[in-house]
Amino acid sequence: MSENYIIHPSENITGEITVPGDKSISHRALILLSISEGTASISNFLESDDCIATANILKKLGVKIQKSEKNNYLIEGVGKLGLKGCDDNLDCGNSGTSMRLLSGLLSAQQFESCLVGDSSLNKRPMDRVSKPLSIMGANISLHDEKTAPINIYPAQNILPIEYNMPIDSAQIKSAIMLAALYAKGKSKILEKVKSRDHTENILNYLGTDIVVDNNKITLNPPKKIDAKDIFIPGDISSAMFFIVGCLISKSSKITIKNVGLNPSRIGGIEILKMMGADIQVSYTNTTGPEIYGDIFVTSSSLRGIEIPKEYIPSAIDEFPVIFIAAAAAAGKTILKNAEELKFKESDRLEAMSVGLKKCKIDNIVTSNGIEIFGGELFGANVDSYDDHRIAMAFSIAGIISKGNMKILNTKNVSTSFPDFYKIMKSLGIKNEREIDT
Ligand code: S3P
Repeated sequence: MSENYIIHPSENITGEITVPGDKSISHRALILLSISEGTASISNFLESDDCIATANILKKLGVKIQKSEKNNYLIEGVGKLGLKGCDDNLDCGNSGTSMRLLSGLLSAQQFESCLVGDSSLNKRPMDRVSKPLSIMGANISLHDEKTAPINIYPAQNILPIEYNMPIDSAQIKSAIMLAALYAKGKSKILEKVKSRDHTENILNYLGTDIVVDNNKITLNPPKKIDAKDIFIPGDISSAMFFIVGCLISKSSKITIKNVGLNPSRIGGIEILKMMGADIQVSYTNTTGPEIYGDIFVTSSSLRGIEIPKEYIPSAIDEFPVIFIAAAAAAGKTILKNAEELKFKESDRLEAMSVGLKKCKIDNIVTSNGIEIFGGELFGANVDSYDDHRIAMAFSIAGIISKGNMKILNTKNVSTSFPDFYKIMKSLGIKNEREIDT
C-alpha cells in the first residue's frame, strides 16, 4: 500500500504558522539528557519517525523517557556509565542521525550492540563514522566495511583524538564528540567549513568543558553531565519548504514563529536572499542552547545565481527545495562542490534532476552538483525516491505548477514532518491524499 499526494496550484498564500521542533536538536537533547544525571524535560520535541527511533533505542538501553504532554518529554538520565546493553538489535529505521550519533555513544559502552536500519539507511555510508571511531580505539565492524548493520563490541579504552574532518558533516563530528566524552584526555576536531553545531551547544549548555574556536572544537571529557531542561525551537529545514512556497507563489505573505536561527543552519536563507528573496528575521531568543525567532516572507521575483561553496554545509538539507526556487527563478542556478547530496536519504542530485525534467525544467547533473534553468514548471507524476525532502520539495513545486502535481510515495514525510500536508492546507494550499493498494 503506498500513499501519494496531489497538490493543486495556489496563490495568495497567507497566514502565520509554526513548524515542528528541530530534528537534529531533538536527537541530541534525547541522547545527552539520557547520559546526564538528574531528570529534565524536553519541550517541543519533534515526534517524527526518526526521533522516535532514537527514543526507542535509548529506552531499550534502560533510559526512562516519558511523554508528559504532546511534544513534551521527561528524561531520567542514567549518568555517563548507566546505560545497559540489550539483546535486541537497535533499529534506527530511516534515520542516519540516530545511527551515526549512537555509533559514537555505543562505542564507549561496556556492552555489545548492533545498530540496524531500513533498506534505504542500509545503503548509506557508515565508514565515515567507523574510521575515526576506530582510531579512538572503538571495536566496531560494518557490513563489507561500509554499511549497516553496525556491530559494536566493548573497547578497552577510548582514546582522545585530534581529527581533521575529511567531510563537513555534523553527524561524523557528533559521533566523535559522543565517544570523546568517555576518552582519557582532551579531543580536538577541526572542520574545513563549519557544520551544524547543536551537539557543541547542548554540551556547553549542560556545563561540559567544550571550547569552540571558529572551526576548531576542543572537548575535555566531563566526570558527569548535569541534567537541565531543553526547549527545541522549530526546524529551519522544515520552515524552508514554506519559505520557498511563499516566495514563488503570487501575492503571498507568511510568518513562521519560533524557528531555530542557529548561524550554522541558515545558509538556505542566505542563498535565497542572494536570489532576491524578501525574507526578514526577528530574533526572539538569544539564550539557552539555541537561538530562535520569527521569519517573515513575502512573494519575490527570484533570479538564478552561482551558489557560494561556503553556504553548502549550513544549507545541506535545504537543496531539494532550493532547486524548486531555482526552477521558478529567472536564469540559471549553478551548484558545485555538493557531492554530499548523493549520500542522503536518496541521491538528491539525481532524484531532483529526474523530477524536474518531468516538470519540463531543464537541468544538467554535473560531477558534484547541478545546473538548473528556470522556466515554466508543469505538473507531473513525480517519485519521492523514498526521501521525505524530495516528496516535500515537489509538493511545494505543485503550488506553482501548470496543472496538478502528483507526488508518489509520500509516507516517508513522517520521518521529519508528520503534519506537513496539514500545514499546507492551513495556508490555503489544496492537497489530497490518495492510497494505492
Ligand atoms: C544532521 C546532519 C546532516 C543532515 C542530516 C542531519 C545532523 O548530515 O543532512 O539531515 O543532525 O547532524 P551530515 O552531517 O552527514 O551532513
